[in-house]
Amino acid sequence: MATAKLTFQGKEYDFPIIEGTEGEIGIDITKLRAQTGAVTYDPGYMSTASCKSNITFIDGEKGILRYRGYPIEDLVKRAKFPAVAYLLIYGHLPDPNELDDWRRRLTMDSYIHEDMIKFFQGFPPNAHPMAILSAMVSSLSAYYPDTGRGEDMKRNVVRLLAQAKTIAAYSYKKSIGQSRIYPRTEFSYAANFLRMMFATPAEDYVAQPVLEDALNLLLIVHADHEQNCSTSTVRMVGSSRANLFAAASAGICALWGPLHGGANQAVIEMLERIERDGGDCDRFFARVKDKKARLMGFGHRVYKTYDPRAKILKEATDRVLNVLGINDPLVEIAKKIEERALNDSFFVERKLYPNVDFYSGILYRAMGIPTDMFTVMFALGRIPGWIAQWREMRSNPNQRICRPRQIYIGPTTQSFSGDN
Ligand SMILES: CC(C)(COP(=O)(O)OP(=O)(O)OC[C@H]1O[C@@H](n2cnc3c(N)ncnc32)[C@H](O)[C@@H]1OP(=O)(O)O)[C@@H](O)C(=O)NCCC(=O)NCCS
Repeated sequence: MATAKLTFQGKEYDFPIIEGTEGEIGIDITKLRAQTGAVTYDPGYMSTASCKSNITFIDGEKGILRYRGYPIEDLVKRAKFPAVAYLLIYGHLPDPNELDDWRRRLTMDSYIHEDMIKFFQGFPPNAHPMAILSAMVSSLSAYYPDTGRGEDMKRNVVRLLAQAKTIAAYSYKKSIGQSRIYPRTEFSYAANFLRMMFATPAEDYVAQPVLEDALNLLLIVHADHEQNCSTSTVRMVGSSRANLFAAASAGICALWGPLHGGANQAVIEMLERIERDGGDCDRFFARVKDKKARLMGFGHRVYKTYDPRAKILKEATDRVLNVLGINDPLVEIAKKIEERALNDSFFVERKLYPNVDFYSGILYRAMGIPTDMFTVMFALGRIPGWIAQWREMRSNPNQRICRPRQIYIGPTTQSFSGDN
């Protein structure tokens, strides 16, 4: 096998080269410190692969995203979210029997323990739903402990996927002071979520197919994205053998920030600000170029071309708004900004293109989802990815606790003078 040579302090070292199935090359430096005494320095992990994984492949230069080898463009056309979740978690698309069983289990386990309902009363009415989601998901471990037995583990995977959407919808109902709507067995994952969000005890509610389809699509494009900030957090927490709910709750917190899943909310707030300014983008672009603001929903650590998820969502936005007969002025502003940025040297030179969050917020808005729930929607989509990555890590017998090193730059030994 080929090796990479390192010359360091007059000595030469060989490190193995590893190659992924799509031709990605890595230098295995696990023995670097033992052999040389030195560590690598890579803040932000710009050049560091933290694991080998067979779940998701991204080619950021070509704009490719595949789950278990299936292109995202095919999955959104041909599968529903539960099947994609199954694919990510168990490695293959379910056959019809597996899918029936999976759907049934997702429905049967979507009720949260009645005692947990009381927790909602403790949150203030204006609590951010991400705070509620992370706290409630962590609390699930109090009800469903990780016994380490295979059957419990299987069930906890289902409980997490199924109950997160119930928790999300209840947190919304709590914020608007409406009564909770229980999930029902006859509805799909997406239809149940929409019903729990928008039905009231006063009237019947059946989700419009266009909304159900849009939700499936949104959940699928968010379902996994290899070793991003929240997924790496899930793996990091899970590497200490913390249980699945604890690891997922940590992932929810990591996702919350505006540079990650919180960007969808930030995009809408940015577009609304520009609209309030009369739709004039000049001032905003000047601020971005002065580095006083960021164009939210643009740029990505991995994609250096158009994010394939943004392409899917842009098309879906036009389609859904058309069917619903919505004329949202923010769409025009978003398209104007996109066109301008794609032709502006500041963005072109830095390879900044729309990412998944640029159009997702507009779609959520059209579906009636309130802005502060957008990141929760991202989390619901991402849960299968977190579960898949957590399982992959936990099933690796050679997995060690994740524990990076540092380069200490603080004071050397100081001596105490006098009492303090
Ligand atoms: C996603 C993101 C965090 C990636 O960050 P990163 O890989 O660390 O890239 P950097 O922050 O180093 O940015 C590289 C350069 O592009 C600029 N840049 C990156 N994203 C930008 C944006 N959205 N608007 C304006 N400038 C941006 C940076 O200022 C930097 O410029 P410089 O080289 O002159 O210093 C970043 O692009 C961003 O903040 N985007 C907006 C938030 C967002 O949409 N997040 C959702 C991601 S799915």
